[in-house]
Amino acid sequence: MRKKLVAGNWKMHGSLAENAALLSALKPALAGIEAVVCVPFPYLAQAQAELTGSSIAWGAQNVCEEAKGAFTGEVSASMLLDFGCTYVIVGHSERRSLYGESDTLVARKYVAAQAAGLTPILCVGESLAERESGVTEAVVSRQLDAVIDAAGVASLAKAVIAYEPVWAIGTGKTASPEQAQAVHAFIRGRVAALDASVAGQLVIQYGGSVKAANAAELMAQPDIDGGLIGGASLVADEFVAICRAAAK
Ligand code: 13P
Repeated sequence: MRKKLVAGNWKMHGSLAENAALLSALKPALAGIEAVVCVPFPYLAQAQAELTGSSIAWGAQNVCEEAKGAFTGEVSASMLLDFGCTYVIVGHSERRSLYGESDTLVARKYVAAQAAGLTPILCVGESLAERESGVTEAVVSRQLDAVIDAAGVASLAKAVIAYEPVWAIGTGKTASPEQAQAVHAFIRGRVAALDASVAGQLVIQYGGSVKAANAAELMAQPDIDGGLIGGASLVADEFVAICRAAAK
């Protein structure tokens, strides 16, 4: 059976002091429960120091598509590995919309992450305008196909997909469990058409205004395998409750 996996995306939040308090609350509460926190680059060393030996893995929120070189301000996959990262988010909608990351660039980041031995958490999802014009499946397919074309369907055996409808991110407006399930089933079906065994094992997280109060019904959907959590991952009690709901 495929596992459930909850990851926190801290986005550009935190400080050494705030992180220390959050991580020291999470560690005992999540003992024995696999979870992930994706922290800002400067705090990777802190995550490594605090979380080594715990059940919480850590990762970054972005990675350069190039391995090394004259790319001022960028961070390579091998640098993330140096700080013990297991995961890295690629193609978050904030990167796509605010920093102009194309499907092709996201696919290159995915390839770079896997080449270094990191597990990419590939974000896909439609905007409100796209949902309202009925192109949700076309958008998600295009985002997914860019990665499958670049890396092959078998690469998904070593990746996580996060379905994050853009209209549900940070808005308090969660997709209903049925809406989310429908897109998750579509994603799994599209992968299954290429490789049924990869599709069966593929972890597909839901992201977008997940909180303790709505986690259980989202996690109960057959094709929802965990969550990618923004705001609620910064609040220890909330994140712990979401991870526990997924682990049930
Ligand atoms: P919120 O949980 O704050 O809506 O953010 C979701 C998200 O973007 C996680 O990557």
